Amino acid sequence: MEKPGKHMFLCASFRANGEPQGICNKKGGSALVQYLQEELTDRGMTDVMISTTSCLKVCDRGPAMVVYPENTWYGGINGEDDIDAILDSMEDGEVNGEYTIT
Ligand code: FES
Repeated sequence: MEKPGKHMFLCASFRANGEPQGICNKKGGSALVQYLQEELTDRGMTDVMISTTSCLKVCDRGPAMVVYPENTWYGGINGEDDIDAILDSMEDGEVNGEYTIT
């Protein structure tokens, strides 16, 4: 397996024991995984890997995602339009400042 060029970690609010309970999951963050994967494929962004994570500790800004190796943190990802906006910027080699968590 080749290492990915980028790795997106989408918060799914997983807890060590039991079901996801956090804000990102409650706001639908986990449900965006499939859409994100489909969009990456449709856009030919095949060197980007997606993983879901436990709480990223920015719940007040969730649903949240981190992109490496840039270490760019995004928040307020409330739906497919937000995913599209972030991916549009990534395709242009830019960071979408509307969603960044600093
Ligand atoms: S549950 Fe997503 S940042 Fe805390």
